[in-house]
Parts: sequence; structure tokens; C-alpha cells
Amino acid sequence: MDEQKDQTEVREYFRIRGPQPLRGSVTVGGSKNAALPILAATLLSSTPSVIHNVPDLLDVRTMVMVLESLGAGVERIGKHSYRISPATISRFEPPYELIRKMRASFLVTGPLISRLSRARVPLPGGCAIGSRPIDLHLKGFAHLGVDVSMRSGYIETWAQKLRGGEVYFDFPSVGATENVMMLAATIEDETIIANAAREPEVVDLARFLTLMGASIEGVGTDTIVIRGRKDLQGCEYTIMNDRIEAGTFCVAAAITRGDVTVHGVETSLLRSVLTKLEEVGAQVEKVGEDAVRVAMSERPRPTNIKTMPYPGFPTDMQAQFMSLLCLADGVSVITETVFESRFAHVGELERMGAKVQVEGRSAVVVGVEKLTGARVTATDLRAGAALVLAGLAAEGVTEVNGIHHIDRGYEDLEVKLQSLGAFIERVRG
Ligand code: UD1
Repeated sequence: MDEQKDQTEVREYFRIRGPQPLRGSVTVGGSKNAALPILAATLLSSTPSVIHNVPDLLDVRTMVMVLESLGAGVERIGKHSYRISPATISRFEPPYELIRKMRASFLVTGPLISRLSRARVPLPGGCAIGSRPIDLHLKGFAHLGVDVSMRSGYIETWAQKLRGGEVYFDFPSVGATENVMMLAATIEDETIIANAAREPEVVDLARFLTLMGASIEGVGTDTIVIRGRKDLQGCEYTIMNDRIEAGTFCVAAAITRGDVTVHGVETSLLRSVLTKLEEVGAQVEKVGEDAVRVAMSERPRPTNIKTMPYPGFPTDMQAQFMSLLCLADGVSVITETVFESRFAHVGELERMGAKVQVEGRSAVVVGVEKLTGARVTATDLRAGAALVLAGLAAEGVTEVNGIHHIDRGYEDLEVKLQSLGAFIERVRG
């Protein structure tokens, strides 16, 4: 089913009545951005892997379909657990319909080259947040001995003899680091990735690859050194929790002037977000190693934000934070440096009374005293989350359409918000 059809045939939306301070505790689930590459990485071995803490999301279901389309056996052995049996993979061309739905499906390319010596993968689609090339992935593959060409919208890769190499990325791309790291994990010579992404999800993937038998050093820094093994072994692994889901609940607490404890997140991974919450006047209290309490009683102060690769402020939290700053007592500037156009939520927030001026890669947010409920539409995953947050704080009824985008990355969002006292319901029809 393509995304357009999801929208027109299912016709689901969130109806939110605000403002309502959120109070209580919530626990985050497994990380989408760690689950997708790790599911792809199970293909690197010919023996089965069992993966736990996999979030129940549209994007995960898409990745499962990609694995099955290639011939892997996939068995769901629990709500959040899968057994992947990759011995039977035989097809090197994932279907166009699946790849165009989700950019992260391109992550099967590295594993396919490793297992079948070739891959023919359609150019990926995904969230509408600007042009998202894959040149860095391809450049990385080429350094490891892969021939790469593009024909009729397909990337064709062919590896006669894989070898280790030195890869330097012009930008620390998360996906390119993961794809190249996966391929290198089965090459016995040394591979060095310089200017690698440092995101925690890259670290989680490296942990999985290490359990499978690869030797990986420097992960979490900008230089990763990999010594692979031809016979990686499938293994049992539990995926890290989702820091972006956690950050979204922290902002939900602040924007509704509530008091919420978010459990199940390593707080050090949220440092940039929590620091910004403190700057705008929220009380932030770490509760042990894996929980954080965020409370806010007054109107937020303005602040400036610049998205950056990890450990900088995550682009995946930019939209949600914009909703908060729309209610600040002054002017804030948000600069998006990771993606070239990721301000589609601005027009929708304006429908709710926000005052935002976009100039190139920056958005000037003039805080208003209150937002008002309106009919709005999510255009991508995090933009959708931002509209839900704005709706929780706005006066009156907000209707968020296009929630299939939200379902790509948040499991049971409305159920979790309801447990914190929010008036939000999923309406069908
Ligand atoms: C991943 C995350 C996404 C997050 C993003 C940045 C997953 C499944 N998705 O996406 O939620 O927003 O990291 O933290 O993990 N680029 C190139 N050439 C390439 C690859 C990327 O120019 O070959 C550019 C992109 O267009 C973008 C920037 O690099 O401007 C960052 O992209 P990248 O880090 O690769 O993001 P994704 O892995 O797609």
C-alpha cells in the first residue's frame, strides 16, 4: 500500500482537546532508527538472529517485508521480537514499492552485496524533508571494491572482490556509516571510516555486529575501524530504546506546563535536548540512569537552536521544539543544518496561530501567548509529532490529519499521551 493510499483509504486522524497539563510517567519503546539497520544487518549471516525490543511501527513492518521479499524467513515471536532466518536469501532486488516507501530500506544494500555479491536497489523514497541523496553510501561501497552504476532509477552494485579500505565522508551521514560498516563487517581486511556518524543508533548497530563476530573500534567517535569476518554468526540482541520518542515526551511535558517522568532512556543521550529545555525554563531532573522528570509551570523563554549531527541538537527533535518555542515569551531562531528543507510544519503551526518566518535554513519564531486548535495535516513523521504537541497545548480542538506519518515512528502515541491525562483520540472515518 503506498502512502497516498494510506491517507485516502484509511482516513484516520487525531482529535485533541487542549490545553491539558500532562502528568505522570511514561516508558519509551525500542528505537526505530536502531531497529531498521539491525534488522537489515541480520542478513549478513546465514544463521538466524533473534531481535528483541523492536518497536511495532509501520517502518519496521516495511523493513520486515523487504527482508521477506529477498527470501529471508521472518517470524514474529512476540509483540516486539522477531526471529530472522537469512540462510534462504536469494533475490538481490528488493521491490520498488517497498523501497520508495522508506529510505531506510536502502540499508539492505550493504548486506546484499556481502551475501550475494550484488544488489539492484531502486533509488529510495521516504519522508518529504528535502532531497536526500545516497552518494555517500555509494562512495563508501566503491572504496571497498564495489562497482556502482545507476540505470533507470536503480542503483546497481557488483562486487567481484571486496577489500578493506579507507572511507572519508564529506558529511557524517548516519545511513552511509551504517551501510558501509555492515559491508565492512564481513571483509577480513581493515576498513577505516573517517568523519563517521557518532549517533547512538550507529553504536547500537556496531554492538550487534560485534556480537555477530566483527571487530569494531572507535564507534561513537568520528573514526571507526572495522575488521570483519566472513562467517558472521546470527545472535540474540535487544535494541536500545528510542531517544527521540523520549525527547518528544519531554517536550510534551514542557509545552503543556505539566510534570512527566520519562522512563527507559539513557539520559546522557538526550543531553542537547534537556539542556535546551532547561534554557527555556523547564525543571529537568535526572532520575537514576534511565529516567528523567521534566516539569514546567511558566511560559517558556525563547532560545536559539541549531540542528547538528550527534551530539548536537537532533534534527529529529527540531519540529517538536519549534512547537514549544511558538509559545515562548520572545523571539527564537531555529537553524536546520542537517536537512535542506525541513520546515513543512511551519505552515500548519501558523494555522494554529503561530508566528514563524522561514528564511533559507533558519526559522524565526516569534512567540505568541496561546495557540488555537485547528485542522492541520502532518507532512512527515516529526512534523506530525510537532502538531500533536501543539494541539495538546492549544486552546480548543485540533484535528491532526496524515497520521500514517506519525505511525511510522511512534508506537501507541495517543495511548501513551492518554495515560498522561491528554484528551486525544484516534478517529477513523
Ligand atoms: C537518519 C535517521 C533520521 C535522521 C537522520 C539525521 C534513520 C532510519 N533515519 O537518516 O531519522 O533525521 O539520520 O540524524 O536512522 N546525505 C547526503 N548523501 C548521502 C547520505 C546523506 O548528502 O549519501 C545528506 C542528507 O541529504 C542529509 C544529511 O546527509 O542532508 C543527513 O543524512 P543522514 O545522516 O544520512 O540521514 P539518514 O541516515 O537518511
